[in-house]
Amino acid sequence: MSTDADTSPAPSLDAIPASVREARPTTWLNPHLRPAAEFLPSQAFSLADVEAAEARWRRFDPLLRHLFDDLATGRIDSPLMPLSDPIAQAIAGPTGGAVWVKADHDLPVTGCIKARGGVYEVLVYAERLGLEKGLLWPGDSYARLAEAEAREAFGAHTVAVGSTGNLGFSVGVMARTLGFAVEVHMSHDAKAWKKQRLRDIGARVVEHRGDYGSAVAAARSAFEGRTDAHFVDDESSVDLFLGYAAAAFDLQRQLDEAGIRVDPAHPLCVYLPCGVGGAPGGVTLGLKLLFGDTIRCIFVEPVASPCMLVQLAAGLSRPVDVYEIGLDNRTAADGLAVAGASMLVAGTVGPLIEAVVTVADTDLFAWVKRLWADPGLRLEPSAAAGFAAIRPYLDAAAPARATHVVWTTGGALLPEAEFQDALARG
Ligand SMILES: Cc1ncc(COP(=O)(O)O)c(C=O)c1O
Repeated sequence: MSTDADTSPAPSLDAIPASVREARPTTWLNPHLRPAAEFLPSQAFSLADVEAAEARWRRFDPLLRHLFDDLATGRIDSPLMPLSDPIAQAIAGPTGGAVWVKADHDLPVTGCIKARGGVYEVLVYAERLGLEKGLLWPGDSYARLAEAEAREAFGAHTVAVGSTGNLGFSVGVMARTLGFAVEVHMSHDAKAWKKQRLRDIGARVVEHRGDYGSAVAAARSAFEGRTDAHFVDDESSVDLFLGYAAAAFDLQRQLDEAGIRVDPAHPLCVYLPCGVGGAPGGVTLGLKLLFGDTIRCIFVEPVASPCMLVQLAAGLSRPVDVYEIGLDNRTAADGLAVAGASMLVAGTVGPLIEAVVTVADTDLFAWVKRLWADPGLRLEPSAAAGFAAIRPYLDAAAPARATHVVWTTGGALLPEAEFQDALARG
């Protein structure tokens, strides 16, 4: 894979702002930002790769429609919703511009953005096995993969993943529905209800004493060389990345339908909660390939876990994690509680990320409460991060005539007690 890693300077922790080290909210405008048209041609992925991912999603429409009652079209997509003027003004300020919500918190089947990558990677594996084992023939409807013969063949295979919870659920739901065995590796302090939800669908949950990164590493080595299993690598999987990237086509269609102008005089700022970076990174790749620099992608991280900011600021010559600058990676935004960013993502889209904004947990809870009161969005704390980032970003960068899209990334399936607890902390 060609990335700019080879030519990057040695990591310099000095380039990380003091406010980041002190876990204070920070807006970091990326000094390494490069024009998309200049940077993207040197990268391993092109528009053709994202179009191929989109085509694969569409081949699976008949199967997904057959398997899931809430998928009338077979598409796993969410609405693009406008926020009313008073709420948009409260978020972006009186001259801040319109605010829209890309409502992946309510994504069908899994209620979180991680389905875009996790479900997709299971489908890639199922397609490959289906073709190898003669379960699928060219021209067949992929609905055949729901038949008993396919389920029986898939049952001899395991899909494994390391996850903070939502990726595991996305992979788990899809893989269990097709008949695969599923093993999810999680850190000991991952949310108990997220572990239970996995057990309830028949997944094996393996708990690790360390953090999310060590759970991923342990799972990766446990499954190395297994021919009867597939490991979904949240830190470095190309399939995950391209599955997320295909979301750009959904947004492009919805922007067209809503008549939202996106051109150099009317930039679109997209706010993306960032954990290891796969979901926001894939979406950024897709959007930059489709729209170039008329789109500005702003990543949002908790003050205790700003792994992408730290990696991009320090440079790409070696992985740098948040522990190295004295942070503890403890945040209520469990989906974003990641100490070290994906190097695949940092290398492939790092120079396309406009800014990284870090936000305090207290703000996340306040936005969860605010957005439940009106317009009634049911968000988990991670998914509210984008709302907390708009004003700081505007204060730092002030793009004129911008429209804002906040990507809400999870929450619809939050158990009631968890949600009430988040509201009470708001
Ligand atoms: C709700 C939610 N939002 C955002 C993310 C961030 O995705 P990524 O870890 O790919 O950056 C996650 C990750 O699990 C998540 O669960």
